[in-house]
Amino acid sequence: ATVTFVEHDGTVHQVDHDEDGSLMEIATNHAVPGIEGDCGGEAACGTCHVIVTDEWAGTVGPRTGREQQMLEMSPECEANSRLACQVAVSSAMDGLKVRLPEFQM
Ligand code: FES
Repeated sequence: ATVTFVEHDGTVHQVDHDEDGSLMEIATNHAVPGIEGDCGGEAACGTCHVIVTDEWAGTVGPRTGREQQMLEMSPECEANSRLACQVAVSSAMDGLKVRLPEFQM
């Protein structure tokens, strides 16, 4: 399955993966710049902030409670902002596309 990450400057990183896992893990496993995952996926660091494209927002589901609290403290929280470590990606979600916020480069 592919996941596309678009940096704020428009640089596109398309990742091919066959693992089920969090979107943060997929990004860090494939060295996508701008997604650090400093807290290891605990929804505690905010370094895995992504903005899900409208067409995928429904598929990835709602924020978790802790994620919501973290995002409320973020300077750049948009309607479709998510912490990538809280987004479960299955290999069936082919074509998922997210953007990275400006502060995360
Ligand atoms: Fe820390 Fe997602 S990895 S909030």
